[in-house]
Amino acid sequence: MKRNSIVFITVFMAIIFIGYSALAGGHGQKQPMKKGILLVTFGSSMPQAQVSFKNIDKRIKKAFPGVPVRWAYTSHIIRHKLAKEGKKLDSTEMALAKMMDEGFTHVAIQSLHTIAGQEYHGLIQSAHAFGQMSEGFERILVGYPLLGKEDDLEKVTEVIIKNIPKDRKKKDAVVLMGHGSHHPSNAFYAAMMYHFQQKDPNIFVGTVEGAPTIDDIKATLLKKKIKKAYLMPFMSVAGDHARNDMAGDEDDSWTSILTKAGIKCVPVLKGTAEYDEIVDIWVAHLKTVLMHF
Ligand code: CO
Repeated sequence: MKRNSIVFITVFMAIIFIGYSALAGGHGQKQPMKKGILLVTFGSSMPQAQVSFKNIDKRIKKAFPGVPVRWAYTSHIIRHKLAKEGKKLDSTEMALAKMMDEGFTHVAIQSLHTIAGQEYHGLIQSAHAFGQMSEGFERILVGYPLLGKEDDLEKVTEVIIKNIPKDRKKKDAVVLMGHGSHHPSNAFYAAMMYHFQQKDPNIFVGTVEGAPTIDDIKATLLKKKIKKAYLMPFMSVAGDHARNDMAGDEDDSWTSILTKAGIKCVPVLKGTAEYDEIVDIWVAHLKTVLMHF
């Protein structure tokens, strides 16, 4: 008897709890559905990198007319730098708090990252936390980064190959500069190199902060007796890494390292988000998220 009443109370409490969360708008009023998109990138303080963000913004708004689009930068260093120039950019959490305050009920966060590394997983955590709040969103989902699904690797390979400068000859190398990470998803760069080399054996993928390193790539280029290399960013923007670590004059830039090894370098300063067909992969991931609302 006593046991039965405990079960009854537990079920009753569960009903109250479920009923309460369905009416999260407060005072028994269910909030009207309001959908929004939050685009999240690491960010860049370089004015030349803005072309990538503008292109993404334009194509997302075109694909989802009428859905408000907000932006967030995950890098606090870049946000603080821009704030000093009078440009206020939100963190993911700040952008979500503002959206919550504005009565958004369904938020689609789109990661503009290349791989599902540390920052992407951070987004999932933040989204989860905001979904748990008492006045939180009814639905908050995160779209895959660029290399989210297996066929994305194939698509990205095709688009990048199509955008290699036309004067490049088959014997010249194309060296792509990925960001790289200590996260296990760093393996995507080697996986991309495999896909590229299935189509063109002289395309290589190195990273700034992970493996393969530029020394690994240099060793391979020398072994293959390559004399000329086109260097292209494998990052959404041609920002600080592309302009300094890839194409810069410093001794440790990729251009300097390869030039010293006798390889002529041709840097191409274009971020992947400048190519519409790359942006369309992020758009497709966002479409998948919005389909669940
Ligand atoms: Co970096």
